[in-house]
Amino acid sequence: MTGASPDTQLSGDALMRSGGRGLLLTLYAALRSLKLYPVENATVQKSLDDLGASAQHLLAVESPLEIRLAGDFIFVNQTRLRLELDNYASFSHMLALFRGFDIGVLRVHAGVDRREWQAFLSILLSLSAKGTDTELFEELHERLAAADVGHLDVERATVAPETLDDIERQREVAKRTYAQGVAVTRDVITSVRMGRATGVKRVKRAVQMIVDQVLNNETSLVGLTTLRDYDEYTFTHSVNVCIFSVALGKKLGFSKLQLYDLGMTALMHDIGKARVPLEILNKAGGLDEREWFAMQAHPWLGALTLFGLRGYDEIPYRSILTAFEHHMKTDLTGYPRTVRPRELGIFSRIVAVADGFDAATTRRSYQTVPIEPDQVLREMWENPKRGYDLVLVKALINLIGIYPVGTCVILDTLEVGVVYAPNPEGQHLNRPLVRIAIDVDGGTVPPPGRPVDLSETDGSGAFVRSVVKVSNPARFGLTVGDYFV
Ligand SMILES: [Fe+2]
Ligand SMILES: [Fe+2]
Repeated sequence: MTGASPDTQLSGDALMRSGGRGLLLTLYAALRSLKLYPVENATVQKSLDDLGASAQHLLAVESPLEIRLAGDFIFVNQTRLRLELDNYASFSHMLALFRGFDIGVLRVHAGVDRREWQAFLSILLSLSAKGTDTELFEELHERLAAADVGHLDVERATVAPETLDDIERQREVAKRTYAQGVAVTRDVITSVRMGRATGVKRVKRAVQMIVDQVLNNETSLVGLTTLRDYDEYTFTHSVNVCIFSVALGKKLGFSKLQLYDLGMTALMHDIGKARVPLEILNKAGGLDEREWFAMQAHPWLGALTLFGLRGYDEIPYRSILTAFEHHMKTDLTGYPRTVRPRELGIFSRIVAVADGFDAATTRRSYQTVPIEPDQVLREMWENPKRGYDLVLVKALINLIGIYPVGTCVILDTLEVGVVYAPNPEGQHLNRPLVRIAIDVDGGTVPPPGRPVDLSETDGSGAFVRSVVKVSNPARFGLTVGDYFV
């Protein structure tokens, strides 16, 4: 983002959001450095300075300051902090820490000094080393009083009904957006198949909803792409490709308007399949040569169909190009065959990557066993014959991790979990954030499960948990959707 306003010009809410985020990051940094070094170490001192400064910054606006936990969210006063992929580590760490102590609210009063911060963090660290204990909260409370920490106080977690509603509402909005996308795709494809005239206004609205959702809360909508309805493959596939493409476009820094165009393009990329006979489209088992030929006509049929839609001037011209190019591959060995050398458009390359990933991970009529997502990504990355733009494959791996959200994993601790977010640290693609659903002793952890970070290491630097293999959640009686918002 360019041209960010200086703090003085920010509205109260925006100030709380950026300041609150800063507070949480500095709190996390101070905690980490205190864990690693002795108090007199310069890094510790610097981190305490930073923490004091970021708290002061907000206390000047509002006092006292409340850091409150509600479900998976952190509020600073009335403002919900935005969970971005790049600050997931600090957020999830603080969430886990607060939950471990059963802290619902941390209140910071004006006048707090570095001695109090240091005492507070040291007490947290020494108590959390003791392991889980139901009396941790009581002990924390007593130790804070004994250490004369008067400007920081903690309150036990209670479930605030209004925030739970809020979380539930977000989940509902994500589901509705997804369902809406499926519905308009079904309409458009059915209309084309029937030879009925169809407009693009509704499609446009559905795409805008998807883009707005991805911009607001990437994780929840991307998570929905794993809840596929196999009977409606063509429609859910289009919506999934749309979500992945938009999320990729966001990563590449596209503007909102560009994302609208990209989303529309992605949603319509397979519209040519509306002109492929249904018995070929839905055929179980392999296609013979003649059938493949018909199937391979869908790119150019798609381009023609888009020209024929009512209000086609509202369709970005790149949609037509993408419908035509999305199976060509970067080395042009795909279809349709081209006679002249050409460079695929950026939308085509994005949609090709999103398309290849979704198609390979979904079970559909002519491919009965879905390939595990991590294998698909590895194949897309390592096999040049696949013909994907590697920069975009890399971006996709960064976006969903080698283990995408919703993957059921068995860990070397014998725990079973569900991936709920990629690891925010780029080098830990194979160490996502997981919610434990089955414990070491085989007991079920009720949804939403216990969050763990697979990049976590023990004292000797060894990883605490690693993925042994990916598994089918049905084997454990798990509904993956219960384990991520
Ligand atoms: Fe296609
Ligand atoms: Fe496709």
